[in-house]
Amino acid sequence: MSRIAYVNGRYLPRHAAMVHIEDRGYQFSDGVYEVCEVRAGRMVDERRHMARLQRSLSELRMGMPMSAAALGLVMRETIRRNRVRDGIVYLQVTRGVARRDHAFPPAGTAPAIVITARNLDQATIERTASDGIAVITVPDNRWVRVDIKTIGLLPNVLAKQAARDRGAKEAWFVDAQGMVTEGASTNAWIVTAGGTVVTRPADNKILRGITRSVLIDALAEQGLAFEERAFTLDEAFAAREAFVTSASQTVMPVVRIDGRSVGNGAPGPVATALRRNFHHHSEWV
Ligand code: PDD
Repeated sequence: MSRIAYVNGRYLPRHAAMVHIEDRGYQFSDGVYEVCEVRAGRMVDERRHMARLQRSLSELRMGMPMSAAALGLVMRETIRRNRVRDGIVYLQVTRGVARRDHAFPPAGTAPAIVITARNLDQATIERTASDGIAVITVPDNRWVRVDIKTIGLLPNVLAKQAARDRGAKEAWFVDAQGMVTEGASTNAWIVTAGGTVVTRPADNKILRGITRSVLIDALAEQGLAFEERAFTLDEAFAAREAFVTSASQTVMPVVRIDGRSVGNGAPGPVATALRRNFHHHSEWV
C-alpha cells in the first residue's frame, strides 16, 4: 500500500510529498513536532499532545496553524488513509518558507505543516519489552530549553547513534551535577531498592513526556510510592528496576546501564505491570 502524507493542506503520495528548500525547519530547525501513539486505529492522549503542541509553539512565538480540533481531524484522516492500526502519527509545524534570514519572516508567512502516520511492528516491540533494553550514558550537552519539543534534535541524534554503536537501544543524558536528565527520545525512571518509583521533575532540562504525565497519574491511582526528583547515575546503578517512557514504546524496561545489570538483569515487576496497564490510564479518541 502506498503511504500518504499530509503537506500544507493536501494529502499526497509519499514520493510526491515535498517541502520547500527554504522551509525554516530545514534551514534553522525553526519548528516543533509531536508524536502520538495510535492504538486500534485511535489516537492516544490527543488532548495532552495538543496542549503540549500549543505550548511549544507559543514558546517559539508561533500560533497554532489551525485549531486543535481541526488538527485532530487531519491527523485522524492521515491515520485512516494509511490504514494505521497500531503505530504512530507524526506532526511537524515550522515557521514556514521565506528567504533565509535568522530573524522571523514577514508577518503573514504561513506555517508549514507535515503529518505522517505509520504502523509499528508490535511483535518486535513486545519482544524487546520482554527482554528489556540496554542504555548507555552521555554528557547532556543540549540547550537549556529542551522542554520545548523542537525539531532541533542533533544532540539526541548523536546520543542515539552512540547507543547504537555500543549495542544499546537508548542513551541517557547525564548533567554536569551527575544527575540523569532523560533519554535521547524517552523519559528516564528508576525504582529504588525500597520500591519507590522516581523520575526527574519536568523543569526546563527535560521534555514533559505525555507518557510520563499519564504514568504519574496511574501511579497515584494505584497508590504506588512515587517521588518526582532528580536521581544520580549511581542511584540508577543501584536501582531495583529502571525503565523509559515514550509515546511509541509506552513503558520499556531497562536491564543494563553502561554495561552493568539493573537489579537481576531482567525486566522488573513494577515496569512490567505499568506497561501492561498503561492503556487503562491513557485517553483514546
Ligand atoms: N520522543 N524526551 C525526549 C527527548 C523525547 O524526544 C520524547 C519523545 C520523550 C517522551 O515524550 P512522550 O511520552 O510525550 O512521547 C521524552 C518521541 C516519541 C520521538 O521523538 O520520536
